[in-house]
Amino acid sequence: METIVVRVEAVRREAQHVHSYELRRPDGAALPPFQAGAHIDLHLAGGLVRSYSLTNAQTERQRYVVAVALDAGGRGGSRCVHERLHAGTLLSIGPPRNHFPLHEDAGHSVLIAGGIGITPLRAMQARLAQLGRPWELHYGARTRAGAAFADELQALGAQVHLYFSDAASGRMDLARTVQAAPAGAHFYCCGPQAMLQAFEAATAALPAERVHLERFAAQQAPALDGGFVVELARSGRCLPVAPGTTILDQLLAHGIDAPYSCMQGICGACETRVLEGVPEHRDSVLGEAERAGNRTMMVCCSGARSPVLRLDL
Ligand code: FES
Repeated sequence: METIVVRVEAVRREAQHVHSYELRRPDGAALPPFQAGAHIDLHLAGGLVRSYSLTNAQTERQRYVVAVALDAGGRGGSRCVHERLHAGTLLSIGPPRNHFPLHEDAGHSVLIAGGIGITPLRAMQARLAQLGRPWELHYGARTRAGAAFADELQALGAQVHLYFSDAASGRMDLARTVQAAPAGAHFYCCGPQAMLQAFEAATAALPAERVHLERFAAQQAPALDGGFVVELARSGRCLPVAPGTTILDQLLAHGIDAPYSCMQGICGACETRVLEGVPEHRDSVLGEAERAGNRTMMVCCSGARSPVLRLDL
């Protein structure tokens, strides 16, 4: 798995329970380029790997900035980041990947964020502003104190709309926001599950190529029925996938160095080419057309509809 060693240059408090982490190479050299919407994996203590969106402008080549909300009820990644990463800490990261790309030539872009979902959209806003393309941002959070970057974004002007559940501004009306957008606009959403569901409902009648979203959590349960065989094309090895396990479980159990991060079908790290067979897709990364094409699959959560899957591994 390709990794880059970086040092935490600065930790900043961006809101209640939200810290941002500025990461640079120890020698100050440029980092791999990225596009707005991209995320990186942080390799944390105890073998934890977690993906976080890059929130700084893509024109910045010397640093990556991620913002992490402490999730007390989460799987431990955010707690590990908050407790263990300090200015000066060295850590390994994965290179940027982007499953939430910005369509830079859109006539208008509507950016919709909930809570810490603001992070990739902040990078998109910076890119659109740099290109001089029209955009608007709708950003909802439970409280202003918990909304990272709220002051900075509000200062950008009237195209920024903030909504706080505990304030008179009230809740975001996604259906009205979508209806009011100029014809041909592209829509982007990142936030909690309930917001993404409302976003999907509000944009259901629009062409899929103008609707873009990124999830924090798995939408579907992993395929654990097992009962099929994975053939690794590069070595010819065949691994049976037993009930209750995933393909990735089997790969790791057999010492195969397969890339992975979230293990929930949301980050795309484990995307693998399918050479033969039919996957049972359970991820939130591939679009409908990509699923139907069956050319790749996420091995951390997807299974098989055919008795054998031949994979490019
Ligand atoms: S490891 Fe994240 S999608 Fe599979």
